[in-house]
Amino acid sequence: MTRPFDNRLQPIGSKPDDKLKRLIDRLEAEHVLSKEEFVALIGGRTPELGEYLFEKARRIRQEHYGNDVYLRGLIEFTNYCKNDCYYCGIRRSNSRASRYRLTKEQILACCEEGYSLGFRTFVLQGGEDGYYTDGLLVGIIKDIKARYPDCALTLSIGERSYESYKALYDAGADRYLLRHETADPEHYSRLHPPSLTLEARKKCLSDLKDIGYEVGSGFMVGSPGQTPEQLAEDLLFLHELQPQMVGIGPFIPHHDTPFASEQSGTAELTLFLIGLIRLMLPAVLLPATTALGTIDPLGREKGILAGANVVMPNLSPREVRDKYLLYDNKICTGDEAAECRRCLEGRISGIGYRIVVDRGDSKLAKEDVKSRGGRKCTM
Ligand code: SAM
Ligand code: FES
Repeated sequence: MTRPFDNRLQPIGSKPDDKLKRLIDRLEAEHVLSKEEFVALIGGRTPELGEYLFEKARRIRQEHYGNDVYLRGLIEFTNYCKNDCYYCGIRRSNSRASRYRLTKEQILACCEEGYSLGFRTFVLQGGEDGYYTDGLLVGIIKDIKARYPDCALTLSIGERSYESYKALYDAGADRYLLRHETADPEHYSRLHPPSLTLEARKKCLSDLKDIGYEVGSGFMVGSPGQTPEQLAEDLLFLHELQPQMVGIGPFIPHHDTPFASEQSGTAELTLFLIGLIRLMLPAVLLPATTALGTIDPLGREKGILAGANVVMPNLSPREVRDKYLLYDNKICTGDEAAECRRCLEGRISGIGYRIVVDRGDSKLAKEDVKSRGGRKCTM
């Protein structure tokens, strides 16, 4: 049996094996490796090997996106959820969470402020909350798209039926984020109650692609029980899915969940995986996530320098921000949207990149998908 690795351990060894560098060269050239090769890279990583990887990752993101960093305005519109994921601070069983829902008017006000701050993508994210029926969401999506036709709209609202996804797409939603969380069914059942299965998650991702959404998937790094083999499976799953976006971030415990006393994932491993993903999916949209910025004060800057090209500041009203607590010590919960925007501008320009006022479409999507009507992908 494979032992879960210890998150506290720093990678061992100081001199990276030339063999591992050659694996990175091959990943750059062929965009995929075998499971064993990914495991060797993850298990054998050193700071020097990381630098070798990040230098390549930066060059590849430069070829596709130059120095541009895209902004996504995150609107966390409900923290009600019918699910009970063991890792998540807004899970149904957390009776200490103070619940809220935003009205359509509040969501539109977030978009208005975001638009004036230069956001051209809005992400509506929330728990799986039955209050937001297809009818209600269709009205919200249509209103946002009518007021901001030059903006992209991303949904991140969990598992729904094919018909529901289709109705939301037809109303104008462009993109959908649904992390697969882990590509190993046994590990999936360690992180979720029996009502949630990897099979159902994959079916949703396949439906979203069939309908024509630009799809984002991803996973938590260092979630309880995770092994290098499972991370290799996660990478291979992403290679098969070929999503336009990949979101990964460290697992961080929340004090009112069954995983309260588990260890966090590390920024170091998250960054290494960001580098590998950039080489595997060269044109992918890859955020330097809030969780990465939470675990390391310079995590988002380091993420960009490891190959990421997106940041997702919070546009939620200030009074609800500290209620959308997926994990402990989440950053930016006390800030105004404009403060977050200014802060990120400084952080990104400080490392030689620039935030742009742009929808930030995937170059993949632009090349492969000429018109909205013809958007189709295969899995
Ligand atoms: N309900 C939607 C869904 O399931 O996709 C969107 C909201 S969900 C909270 C968004 C993501 O937060 C999840 O996919 C998960 O990877 C991440 N997340 C939840 N709890 C976390 C934790 N304790 N540490 C790090 N990330 C976490
Ligand atoms: Fe539903 Fe986390 S358990 S959003």
